[in-house]
Amino acid sequence: MTPAERDLRYYAALGLAAEASHLAQGYFNRRETLGTTMKGAQDWLTVADGKVEAFLRERLSQLFPQDTVIGEEAGGEASDAVWILDPIDGTANFAHGDRNWCISIGFLVDRRPEIGVVAAPALGELYAARRGAGVTLNGEPIKVSGGSDIARASVELGWSTRVPAERYVEIIGRCYGAGAAVRRAGSGTLGLCHVANGASDAYAELHINAWDVAAGIVIAGEAGAQINDFFAGEGLSKGNPILCCTPGLVAPLRDITGIA
Ligand code: IPD
Ligand code: CA
Ligand code: CA
Ligand code: CA
Repeated sequence: MTPAERDLRYYAALGLAAEASHLAQGYFNRRETLGTTMKGAQDWLTVADGKVEAFLRERLSQLFPQDTVIGEEAGGEASDAVWILDPIDGTANFAHGDRNWCISIGFLVDRRPEIGVVAAPALGELYAARRGAGVTLNGEPIKVSGGSDIARASVELGWSTRVPAERYVEIIGRCYGAGAAVRRAGSGTLGLCHVANGASDAYAELHINAWDVAAGIVIAGEAGAQINDFFAGEGLSKGNPILCCTPGLVAPLRDITGIA
């Protein structure tokens, strides 16, 4: 793919993120049209998840018929030029009226994340990055915190029922033992974005899916974060653990989480 072809996709993703934000905002905080159901324990689904994904899929397939699309709600096929979508990340928050949710649009070439656009309209945040070309939040460059003292670190730990709770609780205990503060805000994608802008020092989760992190990996990487090789092995199809942090915290957090 040429740089011009990649740029075309980046600007398209920015436009689509704005339209998708408008669509999702139309459902947010309107419980009567939210149509909330559960896919499993604490695995929330609303009408907005399906509508936003369908909108993005339709537009991407019109604009770039040669690319493939994988999304959380409708699946899809991998290829050497693949869009990875999470229509709403943080659906539990979305369903509760909590503003910490986002729309995540990632693009991979040969399994390498090249474009990340994440819109969190209820927070007023738009993160945008191309690999090797920097990252912005609402048009301004951002970078990681640069912290190196685990005892002053703020670490976000994601969790889902895909991993036994005991393993999560054990890592929380190790963080507190090392003096770090722990949070869980409920959106893995924004967890990576908030490492990128220095609002937290690290994000870790023992299993997460590609649509949760494809865009955030470009965003956090361009901001100077260190991230494990998430797309190694079957990361794209089955997910993997993720550890994303400011460089000075890699060693203690590898020890604490066991994520290499
Ligand atoms: C979930 C959120 C959550 C993370 C889970 C994800 P969803 O995505 O990102 O914070 O811990 O691993 O599945 O279901 O809200 O799109
Ligand atoms: Ca989900
Ligand atoms: Ca998600
Ligand atoms: Ca989702």
